Amino acid sequence: MSRIAYVNGQFVPHGEAFVHIDDRGYQFADGVYEVCDIKNGQIIDLDGHLDRLNYSLSELQMAHPMSRNALIVKMKQVIKRNYVNNGLIYLQITRGVAPRDHAFPNHKESSIVLTAKSVSPLKKLSLYKNGISVITVEENRWARPDIKTISLLPNCLAKQAAREVGAYEAWFVDDEGYVVEGSSSNAWIINNNNEIITKNPDGSILKGITRAAIMKEIEAMQLALVERAFTLSEAIEAKEAFISSATTLVMPIVKIDNHAIGGGEVGEMAKSLLAEFYNFAQKTDI
Ligand SMILES: Cc1ncc(COP(=O)(O)O)c(C=O)c1O
Repeated sequence: MSRIAYVNGQFVPHGEAFVHIDDRGYQFADGVYEVCDIKNGQIIDLDGHLDRLNYSLSELQMAHPMSRNALIVKMKQVIKRNYVNNGLIYLQITRGVAPRDHAFPNHKESSIVLTAKSVSPLKKLSLYKNGISVITVEENRWARPDIKTISLLPNCLAKQAAREVGAYEAWFVDDEGYVVEGSSSNAWIINNNNEIITKNPDGSILKGITRAAIMKEIEAMQLALVERAFTLSEAIEAKEAFISSATTLVMPIVKIDNHAIGGGEVGEMAKSLLAEFYNFAQKTDI
């Protein structure tokens, strides 16, 4: 079955979906994106993702290619045309096609691409069961990681460094020893007082939509949530640790660099946060 993409007003076979070489996304990584989880035929936390998309566009003075309602219609069409029941939808908006010049073009016609793909819920089962390893890398990104831009080279380098040593994720650590976030996820630890700690959104992290859903979950479960920066030393001493993102949900960590976390076993609190996750996320029918 061939995949179908939506590119600037048209549905096209995935293999024939192209953008112009003068697209500013290609030339300058001048664009933003969102990834939403699809679970049992429903889009997870759609409003949060679309609100953050508006924030990213507005911070970059980039035009929205269509109204929110029209975008939702297109997203649902892409999901349906690809027969996705469990998987993800990817959405990318760039500042459009213009002769190469760093300054913005006069026109306001942004480009949009939507793709959707099925991902078997079984794919990550062994990671959830056994936990993942993370490595740490020096924070070397620009000062606006709160914008979900496609300009992801430092994140790619960090993820590659992780892959090369068999780890799943890389955590950026700042020059004061604080864990910032992962290359494509937010970072969490649980200390010996059962406090669930994640960095406060002070502009240095992407305000994860999954992070927000987990915060609601923690509150509802009457657990202790602390939004503050934590150091790498605290993380190494933690009882549990995990990452969150739309594609990983609550993914338990059993190793940070060469240090076993929680005796190298998946923690009970991360397990129950994962098990209950969808009860606290917003669900939109397709
Ligand atoms: C750098 C970074 N931080 C955090 C996240 C988690 O965000 P969300 O939960 O909205 O997927 C992502 C997701 O791609 C990310 O790239």
